[in-house]
Amino acid sequence: MATRCRTAVLISGSGTNLQAFIDRVGCGALDLELSVVFSNKPDAYGLVRAKNAGIPTACIEHGDFAGRDSFDRAVAAKLDEWQPDLLVLAGFMRILSAAFVAHYAGKILNIHPALLPAYPGLNTHQRVLDAGDRWHGSTVHFVTEELDGGPRILQGRLPVVASETADQLAARVQAVEHQIYPEAAGWVGDGRVEFRDGRTWIDGKPAIDPVVQTFDAVGRRL
Ligand code: GRF
Repeated sequence: MATRCRTAVLISGSGTNLQAFIDRVGCGALDLELSVVFSNKPDAYGLVRAKNAGIPTACIEHGDFAGRDSFDRAVAAKLDEWQPDLLVLAGFMRILSAAFVAHYAGKILNIHPALLPAYPGLNTHQRVLDAGDRWHGSTVHFVTEELDGGPRILQGRLPVVASETADQLAARVQAVEHQIYPEAAGWVGDGRVEFRDGRTWIDGKPAIDPVVQTFDAVGRRL
């Protein structure tokens, strides 16, 4: 992309991933313009993080709309005021309509707390513990109409500790997310990674598999 990538971050909650973006951009380690932070919940703490960082915010509550399509149209109209090049879903707890995804085709990223295609959907950490898996992690992927099914870009994986709770595992996964999500978004922002023909392209070549980074039990990249 020729100009600095105008990025909208969409949240519904605490926004620790948003904070990771703010911190990286703030120290010059990530070359994105954080144009707006959008929430569907007025009390999302991520909105406070955005305000503290001087980033414009917007909020539209989904409960004020009759259905998904009308809500999504309102969100797109609002976001388009900033003409975003990239939408970063960071704990945005809404399923997006096909029309919304098409409007921003190839420009939406999500992070899902599992090593996709394993464990799409909710409660991933407990499901990993219940299955006795040795590895868990998180996946940055392009968003398509298929929930948690779009082409993958980057995975961070870490070993599961058999005795830990789902909350402890979730905290360790989140620490990995804070490293991989800004990195992957930076790759998209600088054009190294693209969405083309329904798949991820890395350095001008179609990528069948995502880049995989391995972390140790305390979140250090190996
Ligand atoms: C993250 O764990 C991410 O995997 C999921 O939502 C969570 C958001 O957390 N999509 P936070 O609001 O960034 O703290």
